[in-house]
Amino acid sequence: MSISAKPDLAFTKALPKVELHAHLTGSISKQCLHDIWLAKISADAGLALEDPLIAIPSVKDGGIDVVSFFPIFDRYIYALVCDEESIRHATASVLQDFADDGVCYVELRTTPRVIATAGINKEGYVSIVLDAMDDFAASQQNRLDADATGKEKKLHVKLILSIDRKNTLQEAMEVVALAAKYRDQGIVGIDLCGNPTRKPISHLSPAFAEAKRLGLGITVHFAEMPQDGSEELEMMLEWQPQRLGHVIHVPQDVKTVIAERQLGLELCLSCNVLCKLSRGGFEAHHFGEWWTAGGKIALSTDDVGIFESSLSEEYAFVAKHFGLNREQLWDLSRGAVDVVFGDREEKERVWRLMDKFWEQEGRRERT
Ligand code: IMP
Ligand code: ZN
Repeated sequence: MSISAKPDLAFTKALPKVELHAHLTGSISKQCLHDIWLAKISADAGLALEDPLIAIPSVKDGGIDVVSFFPIFDRYIYALVCDEESIRHATASVLQDFADDGVCYVELRTTPRVIATAGINKEGYVSIVLDAMDDFAASQQNRLDADATGKEKKLHVKLILSIDRKNTLQEAMEVVALAAKYRDQGIVGIDLCGNPTRKPISHLSPAFAEAKRLGLGITVHFAEMPQDGSEELEMMLEWQPQRLGHVIHVPQDVKTVIAERQLGLELCLSCNVLCKLSRGGFEAHHFGEWWTAGGKIALSTDDVGIFESSLSEEYAFVAKHFGLNREQLWDLSRGAVDVVFGDREEKERVWRLMDKFWEQEGRRERT
């Protein structure tokens, strides 16, 4: 296979990639949820929770839209992944899935939650996730030490804490304080997520001002749905995010600001198309417009557990629907590194991996 051949899934999987928009709970595979469910059922036969393989609708059957999407978490996944053991297990499984897909740097995001039944408060939740990230790093190191050839391919993991649109200002401030407190353990930023129909969100502005003051990275879910007027979008831009998620329904004047500021665009094709947030299928996705305009795109999965499309599949989709060749996919993947919240050293490590990959692909073509 050569670099001039049409890109296929084997290529996009081998391509070193960064994942910048992945919700921890939404990234848990159905198989992992099923395993957690099986363990719980065998410990407590009376557990009133359906098998996730049945309870979670299949996006491929058209069974999920923006109305049915959020209750999947609130009614089901949070009820299943509700103790230290399952959170740890799920985090490890999500990270392993990304590593297996050729991701070499991920900024996972999660919303701190209280799990009263397990005696876990928000800080406890964040600590469990951070510990699971550390354990993953250690287990990876052990595996790589045993096999020195793969050493450089290691997945590096950072964490973003999410503020949900339904949070009060006090709750949002707590998220920012937690991010600041655990910064030296790998937290790099703050996100705004949650059901986009939930309005208003202006009360959250001081939390983002505080995050900015502290120098945390800021990313927000942006224009997932059509809106009356652009006040909310303009307000979010005043929070000075470095990155925006989705950017689907954006008026021209706001697009101009985004382009001028060169904001990172976390584009999630399968999520948008399968959840019917964008119209016209893959071919009409706004990836095409931003790619042509030279936008700073970070192709992302959003919730791979639900949309069942890995990052390498997302890269293969843009090759298929927008005609990108191997070199353009490599450029796309390289460009996303510009907008990571990690430091210069982290960026340079990833670029080195990408350059080495490209050199090897070229060498393979010449031989
Ligand atoms: P968690 O933050 O790790 O618990 O991941 C699941 C949460 O991420 C959900 O409850 C939502 O609030 C949020 N989320 C996942 N996907 C989306 C999305 O596409 N838009 C907005 N919020 C999302
Ligand atoms: Zn998202």
